[in-house]
Amino acid sequence: MMASRFQYAMTLHIIIFLQIAHLVTGQFKIIPPDNPVIGVIGKGVTLPCQLEAKTTPERLTVQWIFTGKSQKIFVTTYDGKNKQNPISEDETYQGRTNFFQTEFNKGNMSLHLKNVMLSDEGKYTCNIFLENWYDEVVVDLNVAAKGDDTSIFLDGHVGQGIGLTCKSQGWFPEPEVVWLDSKGQTRKEKVITQRTKTSSGIFDVVTSMNLEPGSDKEVSCRIVNNLLNTVCESRVLISDVFFPSTSPWMTAFIAILCFSIAVIAAVGAKLKVNTTRRQKAEKNNLEEQLEAQKNTFKGAISENIKQLDRLKDDLDFWEARSHAVLIDVNPDCRVLELPVPGTPKVEDTSSEPESLSSPSTVPVLVGKEGFAAGKHYWEVEVDQQQDWVLGVVGEKERQEEEGTNVGEDFWALHRSQGELFSSKENSKIEKKSMSCSVIGVLLDLEEAQVKFYEAGQRNIIVKIPLNLGKKPAEIFYPFLPKGEEGVVTPVICPVLIPVPLETL
Ligand SMILES: *[C@@H]1O[C@H](CO)[C@@H](O)[C@H](O)[C@H]1NC(C)=O
Repeated sequence: MMASRFQYAMTLHIIIFLQIAHLVTGQFKIIPPDNPVIGVIGKGVTLPCQLEAKTTPERLTVQWIFTGKSQKIFVTTYDGKNKQNPISEDETYQGRTNFFQTEFNKGNMSLHLKNVMLSDEGKYTCNIFLENWYDEVVVDLNVAAKGDDTSIFLDGHVGQGIGLTCKSQGWFPEPEVVWLDSKGQTRKEKVITQRTKTSSGIFDVVTSMNLEPGSDKEVSCRIVNNLLNTVCESRVLISDVFFPSTSPWMTAFIAILCFSIAVIAAVGAKLKVNTTRRQKAEKNNLEEQLEAQKNTFKGAISENIKQLDRLKDDLDFWEARSHAVLIDVNPDCRVLELPVPGTPKVEDTSSEPESLSSPSTVPVLVGKEGFAAGKHYWEVEVDQQQDWVLGVVGEKERQEEEGTNVGEDFWALHRSQGELFSSKENSKIEKKSMSCSVIGVLLDLEEAQVKFYEAGQRNIIVKIPLNLGKKPAEIFYPFLPKGEEGVVTPVICPVLIPVPLETL
């Protein structure tokens, strides 16, 4: 372009060329900005640069250059010739600058700077390059910060007066501090002001004064940022009662204050109590509900367990009964010595109770057939009124000892004076009522035990272990009570009823 322009210029008359050159240069002008520009720390600021022209050429280059105390930074450059990537930003300003590109056609080359920092303070030069024209303007950026609200603290009594402190943080540049009276006049009192520069370069302010009694009681602390023309101000009115010289009033005031605090505390406590009471009531209610549910549940469970136990008992009985055998007894009576309390004495007709520890002899009928293995079940009908004994007697060789004492090798259930006893444990069996008239006996040599059942109720009465270890070769014979008048107690031949499994 320069070449063509040069060629063009060369073909023209020198005067015409000068006239055109004059016109061209007169076409463009940068409007000088109002200096300085103030940026608030943490906020954004626009650095103005306005090109005055009838039409702004598209092919232009704008460059912003920062000149600080010791450095020069090419902040950002807009290059109109580079269509792909026209803007190049310095990394110290990364992401913090913006041109108003849509405003370029109006000649607005201003730069927006985001998140102003203390280090941004300095001179910014706006350089505009056109095809045959160049100019620049300098914009001064001043940085400022308005601190947070001021607070006045009553430090307490200092001599006859009251110490007051005013604080505020985050000012830049160093702010002006003034204490004022009710008329807005600067106070006469001596003021001590501390401005502390923080690590980030901004200032914290602490200022103190002593208010003497008798002076203007309206006190205002004002902190001024002259750059931003902003002010923070706090105002207090100190009542006479606060001065130590008026201590009776002070005492009253303190008393009232304490009372108020107590009332407030009491109200707070009351509210708290009410809340906890309500919560407690709710909790109790919940607990009751839970307890009720638990009880219902427990009831249901125990009911189920009872049923299950009942079914187990039934099943056990039916299983025992499935081993039923027919018992045939020897007609001749044998005598067993039962070393068990309450053993019935068939021979003795007197109702005088036997000494509980003394063994007694009982006549019984012993089965003809004995068992050495397996499971065998039989039922015996017993007299409801009389005492009786029945069970199993174990022997090695019965014939040898016929009619004699067979010693302790028997496992029996016997009734004495309405109560049931098991022979081996010498123990009374807790039974509410002995209503059964048929006793089932299971001789279980597989599991080495004798079980007695209430056949009518299908309940087990007692289980007695056999202790087979000592005498493994034993043969076990059933024995039955010998009825009165010598009548053989019938041995029930069980009718094998099918186990009602479907009802289980
Ligand atoms: C440039 O445009 C921006 C955005 O519209 C505006 O805030 C700014 O004042 C303009 N600058 C000048 C110098 O007109």
